[in-house]
Amino acid sequence: MRAGIFGVGSALPEDTVRNAELVESLDTSDEWIVKRTGIRERRWLNGQTTLTDIASEACVMALADAGREPDEVDRVICATITPDRLTPGLAPGVAARIGATRAGTWDVNAACAGFLASLEQAVALVDAGRADVIVVCAAEALSRILDKTDRSTAVLFGDGAGAVVVARGDLDLGVSAFEQGCDGAQADLLYAESEERLIRMQGRDVYRHAVRRMVESSRTVLEQAGITPDEIDLLVAHQANIRIVEATALELGIPPERVFVNVDRVANTSAASIPIALHDAELSGQLRPGAKVALAAFGAGFVWAAGVISWKERAHVFA
Ligand code: ACO
Repeated sequence: MRAGIFGVGSALPEDTVRNAELVESLDTSDEWIVKRTGIRERRWLNGQTTLTDIASEACVMALADAGREPDEVDRVICATITPDRLTPGLAPGVAARIGATRAGTWDVNAACAGFLASLEQAVALVDAGRADVIVVCAAEALSRILDKTDRSTAVLFGDGAGAVVVARGDLDLGVSAFEQGCDGAQADLLYAESEERLIRMQGRDVYRHAVRRMVESSRTVLEQAGITPDEIDLLVAHQANIRIVEATALELGIPPERVFVNVDRVANTSAASIPIALHDAELSGQLRPGAKVALAAFGAGFVWAAGVISWKERAHVFA
């Protein structure tokens, strides 16, 4: 018996912001954005919908997908760097909204690696027998901390939420390997100050570090799990930029048809990127039960993480 993923959900804000709209106020072009990033459009919250709204929607969907009831949930963990309020965090409000009245809750701030950090916590709690059902949500409203006059960051980020349900099952692989890393000395290359509350980034340096760290940590987890890149059915990497995803896959030796990409439609949604991608991959038929999936993320810190999971390996869940 070990922890695995049994349900998934995601939700995006209603408003789509296409590159053409950004070109109206920034010295940039659709061609530049698509060529350098792969991004064509992103969703931004419009002030009427809250992050709690879309995070809750994703969690409700994930629970229904897993066939679990809200009162079975032991923990709700939310990864975010852009909660609706400074305090309380996002997770208590989400738990209340979804009816997870028995659950303990907390937020995780590990930037774009936040979902994988939260997933590892959830898996450890379930594997240790300290919890049976955990909702792991990642939700971001990056539009709130974008300098909309800075073309080097304003075009890159989007808002959205994704969630998975972690529970125990009779699984071969489950969520079998994790690697987490950190290089705090690089903090000045990607940050937002508490006072200014706007993302500042040295894009080219971030790019270089992101590829290197996602490749290294992916190799480590593949080795830990005893799996070769050939055996990976799908690579779901943090959707920061199509070139980062492609370069990471190339170095790992995973061909394009086994690499998931949705950055064109959602842009970089920070922590929410991987669970949104997992849900999209399932909806598009690229992720089927039993698939072996490599996950990799990199973000401000710098922090990075990688994991190997089997996707909904068994339908039956043991409480
Ligand atoms: N439109 C037009 N020109 C632009 C734009 C834009 N939107 N943004 C930057 N430029 C210009 C720059 O000013 C620069 O001009 P210069 O040569 O006159 O100085 C030129 O384009 C090249 O800039 P670079 O930064 O070298 O361009 P690069 O090819 O590296 O692409 C990008 C920039 C897209 C930001 C890339 O570096 C990148 O994706 N980096 C990683 C970003 C990232 O993923 N961050 C998040 C990871 S962690 C997390 O998700 C929080």
